[in-house]
Order: sequence, then C-alpha cells, then structure tokens
Amino acid sequence: MENITTIQWFPGHMSKTRRMIKSNLSAVDAVVEILDARIPMSSQNPEMESLIGEKPRMLILNKKDMADDTITDKWIGYFKSKGILAIALDCKNGKGVNAFLPAIKNQLLRDLVQRRKEKGMVGRPIRVMIVGIPNVGKSSFINRMAKSKRTKVEDRPGVTRTKQWVSLGESVEMLDMPGVLWPKFEDQSVALNLAFTGAIKDDVIDIESVSMKLLEALSGKYPKLLVERYKIEIDNGDDGKVLLEKVGRKRGMLLPGGIVNTERAAITVLDEFRCAKLGRISLEFPPSGDSNEE
Ligand code: G4P
Repeated sequence: MENITTIQWFPGHMSKTRRMIKSNLSAVDAVVEILDARIPMSSQNPEMESLIGEKPRMLILNKKDMADDTITDKWIGYFKSKGILAIALDCKNGKGVNAFLPAIKNQLLRDLVQRRKEKGMVGRPIRVMIVGIPNVGKSSFINRMAKSKRTKVEDRPGVTRTKQWVSLGESVEMLDMPGVLWPKFEDQSVALNLAFTGAIKDDVIDIESVSMKLLEALSGKYPKLLVERYKIEIDNGDDGKVLLEKVGRKRGMLLPGGIVNTERAAITVLDEFRCAKLGRISLEFPPSGDSNEE
C-alpha cells in the first residue's frame, strides 16, 4: 500500500526525548504510559520497555468512553496475563480516575510503600513519570488528576527546567515530561490507526485514503454501526472506495454531474468516527492465542 502519511520520523526530537526519559528514570519510582484504549498497540511506544528497563510500569487505557467496553476489558486481561497492570480511564469526563492512586499505591508499588512504611519514611512522596505519544490524553490526565492542586514543585537537582513536577496530593508526584515519542509509523497499519484517531494530524495524511481504510476496517469489525449511522447496505466485496461513495451519496454530497464529493464524505466519516458518533469502537483487539482472546 502506498504511504498514507508524508511524515516518517523526527529522529532528532525522538532521541532527545529518549535521552530525557532515560536520564530522569532515577528520579521516579514508576513509569505510567498512557495509551488510547481504541488502539492500545498502535499507541504504544515499542521502545518503552527497553527504555525504562526494570522500572515498574503501568498502563492507562485512556478514552475508554470511545472504546468498546468488552474489548477494553479483554485488553486489561491480556496485559494482566503478561504481568502488566493496566487500568481504563475516561479523562474527558473523569470516569475511573479515582482508581489511579490506589492502583499505584496498593498494586504497582505496594512493596515499595510497605518498605518505606517499615523504615518510617512515610512522608516521602511516590514519584511517577507520565509518558505517551501525542494526543493520547496526557495533559487531560494530568489536569484531571491534579485538579486545583496542580502546583509546581521546586526544581530538583539533575532535573532540567523543561519538565514539571505536579503534586497530586496523597504523597504522589508526577513528572510531566515534554517531548514527542512516536511509535514507528513506518508500519502502515500503525500509521493508519493513528490517522483514524486523529493522533497524526490531517494536514500530513491523505484524508480520502485514510477514510476509505477506516470504512474497510469498520465494515469488517463493526458493520452494524456503519449500516445504522449511514443507512447504507454493505455488499460482499465492497472496498473502501465503494463504501465512501455509498456514504457520500446517501448524505447527498454530490458534485455537478452527480459525482460523489468523496473529499467531503471522507472528512465527515473521519469527524464522526473521532467524536464517537458511530458508537464505541475498538480498532485493535488483543492478539489471539491468549486466554483472553475474543
Ligand atoms: P496529549 O497531552 O497527550 O497530547 O493529549 P490531550 O490531553 O491534549 O488530549 C487530546 C485530545 O483528546 C483532546 O481533545 C482531549 O479533550 C481528548 N481526550 C483526552 N482524554 C479523553 C478521554 O478520556 N475521552 C475522550 N473522549 N477524549 C479525551 P481535543 O479535541 O484536542 O480538544 P478538546 O476536545 O479538549 O477541545
């Protein structure tokens, strides 16, 4: 398939972020990676594990309000089967965010909390680093967690001024890391998932191709939602182009001569998917072969 994006990497930017993560690891007790619940694999940075080494890590599947609950539960089970703690949140509406501190204190860092308690170090805050690719909801999460308590904690030795410590109360502080860390979107399926969800900006993608691919994916995974939303019929063998034309025609998006305005139709499909007008949709399912597969 031809490339749907014109961007490749930002090598300079990436290595700077990588260096920053590495050099700040010793200042934190754990790393929290935020993912998009609709695409937990594509929104994950494949380098994260090797970057953070032995540091305890947990995952947040954010935007759970837009994902399919059944599939999100399966992902949580899947990660659990790999020994990784994951929780699902909706930072837009604040749903599930109360589960975050208990998950950190009573599960991920239980032993550390216990050890500190035994040593009488009760006042020492737990520090976590928040990472995630653009658009997964890092700022929304931090703002939601910090609420009015969001304050800048004093600079620490070895920590440059570009980062911010955010106090969450309950003796937990978060390191808000600037920088951009993309997955490798040379992999076109990853690039497509990021384009569908809007993580890759529309000005660097071919909107019509992306929309056609989205329609193809949806006709395979959620055909009923497509039929309900656009009142179209899906015939065997309909590809993305045919589906996009059906949507445009049904919505009366026509150019002179009765030709479908596929650009308008493409923008509509992407917009409606991104604000969940089609329904709650998960684009990636946990790998099969596991006990938690569908
Ligand atoms: P980032 O720091 O990781 O780049 O992400 P940011 O918090 O800026 O969030 C990116 C977009 O995702 C924002 O939408 C934000 O509102 C939305 N978002 C974050 N968390 C959730 C969630 O749990 N559910 C839903 N449905 N959306 C979420 P935006 O359109 O860029 O801005 P706006 O809608 O806030 O105006």
